[in-house]
Amino acid sequence: MAALAKRTIFTAVVLVVLMAAPALGVKKYLFKTCGEASFCRRNRAYADLAGSKGAAWASPYAIDPSTVTFDGGVLQGSIQKTLTDSTGASSNVEFPFQLVFLESGSARFVVDEKQRAESPIPGFPDNLTQRRYNEASKWAVTGDLTPDISAVESTTDEERMTAVYRVRYGPDRQFEAIVQANPLQIKFYRDGEPHVILNDRGLFNMDHYRPKPSDMDNQDLSNELDVKDMWEESFGGKEDKKPKGPESIALDVTFPGYEHVFGIPEHADQFSLRETRGGEGNHNEPYRLFNVDIFEYEVNSPMAMYGAIPFMQAHKKGSSVAIFWANAAETWIDITKTKPNPESFGIRKSTETHWISESGIIDVYVFLGPDPTSVYQQYGLLTGFTSLPPIYSLGYHQCRWNYNSEEDVLEVDANFDKYDIPYDAIWLDIEYTDNKKYFTWLKSMFPNPEKMMQVLDKRKRKLVTIIDPHLKKESGYKVYEGLSKNELAVKTDSGDEYNGWCWPGESAWIDTFNPKAIEYWKEQFKPGKYCGHENNLLIWNDMNEPSVFNGPEVSAPRDTIHYGNWEHRDVHNIYGLTFVNATVQAMQAREPRQRPFVLTRAFYAGSQRLGAVWTGDNAATWDYLRIATPMLLSNSIAGFGFVGADVGGFFGNPTSELLTRWYQAGAFYPFFRGHAHIESKRREPWIPGEPYTSIIRAAIRLRYQLLPSIYTAFHRASFDGVPIVRPMFLLAPDNEEAFGIDDQFFFGETGLLVKPIVQEGATSTDIYLPDDEIYYDYWDHTIYQGIGYKHIEAPLEKIPVLARGGHIIVRRDRQRRSATLMSHDPLTLVVNLDSTGNAAGVLYLDDGETPAYSRGAYLHRFFMFNAEDNILRSRSMQASSGANKSFEKSIDDIRIERIIVVGLDSDRLKTNHAVEAFQDRKSWSADIDVTKAADGKATVVTVRDPKLLVAADWSIQF
Ligand code: GLC
Repeated sequence: MAALAKRTIFTAVVLVVLMAAPALGVKKYLFKTCGEASFCRRNRAYADLAGSKGAAWASPYAIDPSTVTFDGGVLQGSIQKTLTDSTGASSNVEFPFQLVFLESGSARFVVDEKQRAESPIPGFPDNLTQRRYNEASKWAVTGDLTPDISAVESTTDEERMTAVYRVRYGPDRQFEAIVQANPLQIKFYRDGEPHVILNDRGLFNMDHYRPKPSDMDNQDLSNELDVKDMWEESFGGKEDKKPKGPESIALDVTFPGYEHVFGIPEHADQFSLRETRGGEGNHNEPYRLFNVDIFEYEVNSPMAMYGAIPFMQAHKKGSSVAIFWANAAETWIDITKTKPNPESFGIRKSTETHWISESGIIDVYVFLGPDPTSVYQQYGLLTGFTSLPPIYSLGYHQCRWNYNSEEDVLEVDANFDKYDIPYDAIWLDIEYTDNKKYFTWLKSMFPNPEKMMQVLDKRKRKLVTIIDPHLKKESGYKVYEGLSKNELAVKTDSGDEYNGWCWPGESAWIDTFNPKAIEYWKEQFKPGKYCGHENNLLIWNDMNEPSVFNGPEVSAPRDTIHYGNWEHRDVHNIYGLTFVNATVQAMQAREPRQRPFVLTRAFYAGSQRLGAVWTGDNAATWDYLRIATPMLLSNSIAGFGFVGADVGGFFGNPTSELLTRWYQAGAFYPFFRGHAHIESKRREPWIPGEPYTSIIRAAIRLRYQLLPSIYTAFHRASFDGVPIVRPMFLLAPDNEEAFGIDDQFFFGETGLLVKPIVQEGATSTDIYLPDDEIYYDYWDHTIYQGIGYKHIEAPLEKIPVLARGGHIIVRRDRQRRSATLMSHDPLTLVVNLDSTGNAAGVLYLDDGETPAYSRGAYLHRFFMFNAEDNILRSRSMQASSGANKSFEKSIDDIRIERIIVVGLDSDRLKTNHAVEAFQDRKSWSADIDVTKAADGKATVVTVRDPKLLVAADWSIQF
């Protein structure tokens, strides 16, 4: 017994050390390849078979025309699979389908397996729900799924004879779906052109339920390509019992005429997704979506990572479309591109994709755009938008594994002031707890956490602590005991509590699919339980893939069981979302009501509603700094734009130059946090010394200056899904040359084009201008114009940023210690005129912390510089309401203290020393400084203290 206990402790120590040691590269052998996952292997082989037969491929699946009906916005019927056994006799399996045309303008294609009359189903494990998992949409989709009753069937008689059905739907019925029974195919048209084709290549496949053959050696294999591991399989010495047998689903989706597809995060790869069937520059493996704790992940890889959003956007000149594959099981996606085919889809390449999931139903949503902004809105209307974050969460966050004690925390905090660097939150990693028991404090190091939080609060700063989903199995640990007693943990297949290893050693995992577990979780955060009434305590949820050190692929066994009697395999990719959901609910229950802030590592479609995410355990090398940009872009277009990468790189020690360049890039990450591994050296901004500290300070200060614009961009994302970090095609949708560019991005509404320096020793770079607009160097106003690369100097102290003409940036230029302290500071407007002399911009402002904005307590203003009359105007964008009136009153002290107009023709100024301001039927003159155009730089006119109010309508005549 004692020997066994010792060995267990030894294993735990080795595991923990393994997980903690600076990694030497990803441990590939821990994670499956497609060939090692039987369902992926089988469906890939199926695709190969279909491909090899070409036009002669006859899929066994077809719609039975006698079953098809159209009513109330839904076309439905039954797909039949014809099975032929070794004697030549045939039988059918039925898969009812629905094609739902939604009021929001999207279409949804759902295919399930026909429910059996018998219950329980003979041979089906009776401890499991007697059907396929069909709740991925329930967790991911919060939007309206009402069918659009104005969708019309327009099938002609002739078409009906050949079992082809046609439905017009969407805004002004400009979309059309054409469903063909045999071969089974659904084509989605917009304005008469096909954009998305389901089952174009006939790879639709669903493993139907069948009892495990009693005589495994003499199975009838006539309908199977590859039966190995169909009934149970093992990986890395761990067995998966697969009690329901094979249940995979697969479908191919073609984007005709689209050469580029994007999305399906999370992968450490380029933004424009690569082909996955080999060839130069391509992958050999499909992209994998399976949330895993992949420490020191590899760059340029299709391997699975911490999060999964099965959303893919296809973009071509003049059009953007997308699909969302609502399935939470392990999913693989193969991508290939066809040669241009002038006869079918014109002179462009097309992209063919093949989606393969281990279990569940086919549930795919189709968004027909027509442009990127519409696609993000359509997707957001379903899965929700980024919730408007509290403003402090957009400031700088200082994290490390670990700040060791209260003194340590307060010293770091004081150093920020000493070095005059703003920051908003300091973070505590797992070592703050008593033996990794969440909701406890290591009292020897943190004797009085409430007091520590109060000190931070005086400086308007926050504390973020980590709380993971694994609870240490230890008697006397109340949080675990309550979980266990109330049976709120994930269970084994025999119904016992599932135990595995994580940071604390042996642990149980809270099953946050269970409403009672959510209530239990909320209890733990109540004042007096974890802490006092400190409202500046925020939460970081980590390891929620879930990470299980001794589990298969470092996660939970697939045959463990969750609430509702679903297997883990069915819900794996959603688990992380449900855990954050529970934490967010706990934070929302606090009084007085504040907007919650929760950071997560694992995520799924819909997680954007709950908080922020980061890209996990990167490393302190230039490669990881480089890959952060395409990773942020991929997340952003897939709806989860509140994203950042660990500044400095988690593993290892960055050189001072790398650290500095990372801060410069991080100042433009939607979520901006420095973080470091426990074994790395301290690297707070003052550690590298001069000139680095000053340069880092300048980068962080720039972030704070830009906060009003960043917050405005988040506000926009919160209602129409347009991300903060924007790819080139958002502003230049027709420039094909720019679609694959992923080392630069546009930042929010500012028009700022940012190109982080990601090469050691670089002192200059080439920025690509994707359109003909005028661009100004953000720092010295040098003018650049014309599509193509422009060479710009970028010595260490300079972040390469160009300001696109036509945008108005709103800044707060006074330096404070934290974002909250800036809330009444005056504003500066930077008006970058476009090549026609116009510019426009928006400002959104509210109290920054409470939900009062949702009742109308906010300010939304529109600024416009008009070339015709040389007037800059400020106008309200909101309908007048009591709530915004009283909010406006609370900010009636906020002034516009400076207006900088870049690119104004100085000959058009009435005088060279003053402009005229109008507000409240009064007018006065305000002094200006004029720096005339010279040496390739634009004219800059600065209005000093125009005495205008942010909450008022006003204008300035230049
Ligand atoms: C995981 C996280 C990392 C954290 C560590 C200890 O590796 O990704 O950010 O520091 O766990 O909690």
